[in-house]
Amino acid sequence: MANTGSVGRLVKALLQHIEQDGQPGEQLPTTRSLVERYAASPVTVQKALRELTTRGVIETRPGQGTFIAALPTPPRAARFEWQTLVLGERPDTLDAFGTLFAPPRPDVLPLGSGYLDATLQPLTALAGAMSRAARRPGAWDRLPAEGHEGLRTWFAAQLGPGFHTRDVLIVPGGQAALSTALRALTRSGQAVVVESPTHLGALAALRAAGLRAVPVPTDAGGLDPDRLHAALETSGARVVLYQPLHANPTGTTLARERHAAVLQVLARHQAYLVEDDAARDLTLEGAPTPPLALHDDAGHVLYIRSLTKSVAPGLRVAALVARGPVSARLRALRTADELFVPGPMQETALEWVSSPAREAHQTRLRTHLRSRRDALLAALATHLPAARVTRVPRGGLFAWLELPEGSDDVQLARAALDAGVQVNPGAAWFPAEAPGPFVRLSYAAANETTLQAGVQRLAEVWTLGQ
Ligand SMILES: Cc1ncc(COP(=O)(O)O)c(C=O)c1O
Repeated sequence: MANTGSVGRLVKALLQHIEQDGQPGEQLPTTRSLVERYAASPVTVQKALRELTTRGVIETRPGQGTFIAALPTPPRAARFEWQTLVLGERPDTLDAFGTLFAPPRPDVLPLGSGYLDATLQPLTALAGAMSRAARRPGAWDRLPAEGHEGLRTWFAAQLGPGFHTRDVLIVPGGQAALSTALRALTRSGQAVVVESPTHLGALAALRAAGLRAVPVPTDAGGLDPDRLHAALETSGARVVLYQPLHANPTGTTLARERHAAVLQVLARHQAYLVEDDAARDLTLEGAPTPPLALHDDAGHVLYIRSLTKSVAPGLRVAALVARGPVSARLRALRTADELFVPGPMQETALEWVSSPAREAHQTRLRTHLRSRRDALLAALATHLPAARVTRVPRGGLFAWLELPEGSDDVQLARAALDAGVQVNPGAAWFPAEAPGPFVRLSYAAANETTLQAGVQRLAEVWTLGQ
């Protein structure tokens, strides 16, 4: 009878042979040959083969013999386990941001999208602009990190008197501008004052840079200068992130009479303010208030204007405007990130902003968005009278809906998605605890009929949850 010692020795010898000379799928010698080769009894050989089969090293194919098993593949999760250890704690905001920015699923009613749907994008004009752009001399060449001169001049002129081509840096969209500005102005661990709630992408950029958000609630007139002063004083922050015009998600605009006071607070604290002017071309009623940057003559305001929101998400061109020593730092960071924005994209943007089609697009866009906004508000009043739109948006793409106390926005959004309608639960838009349950609804990517159907479905889901 074979003893365990001899079986163990044979297992070891066979393993050594397989590891050194064997190939997956190769046939092992017969039991008789193994008996001879290893001077072991047939029982010992059979026990050793059984042990190797149990370990998954070999496999028996009935009627054919014994073969070296295919290389065992560790389960997917196990293969990547080391990454979990290296990456450490997961930043929740980055998760929420990833979900938010995934393109809407084709099978749901998209009431959670932050970009215009294809029907509102000037696709024919953009295709023409791009084909002309691609043929322009130098379009495919190296460009300076600060961007195409003509495009920079256009952005400077849009901002107003006192701004020059040299103040403008072309970046691939507003999100990149936010990231670059934050990295230029701060060091990891520092505090940054933000309006609360605020654009989730701004919070994601902030967290990605290792910064702490100091929330300041806004009121009907936007940022209250006294609250801003208190937040800067108590936190020691020297940077503020803010959207003075049609803020995402609340739709709030900084009251004209507060502009000077906000600039005074910045001067008093020697602080920077990053003005994200994402919604300037999405003004639905009247003329937009002038940018805060326009009356800043000491370089406190870094100004961002992007083309994606009002034209198409793929026209990833924005301006980051700054004056003073910070400009060189911004430029250096952009160079380190990607050298320059591709020439064909910048040329396309320049073609677009210089084309007469732009004016016609703006007029059409305004009409459609106004009609969609009104349809959304009407549907909410009819189907969800218990909820309240905190401020009627006079621009931008969103309605910020306050749900009745005790509602669970995250749960509601999940149930709504199951019912085929996508909305954004509000909790993630607050850098600290939310003062109540909110949902962000968008009229960017859904027409009037879809908005109506979406709200109706949302109301049914909400009623079921009560
Ligand atoms: C307020 C605000 N800022 C910046 C961005 C980023 O825009 P983009 O990078 O497409 O220009 C967005 C997009 O959702 C936004 O809503």
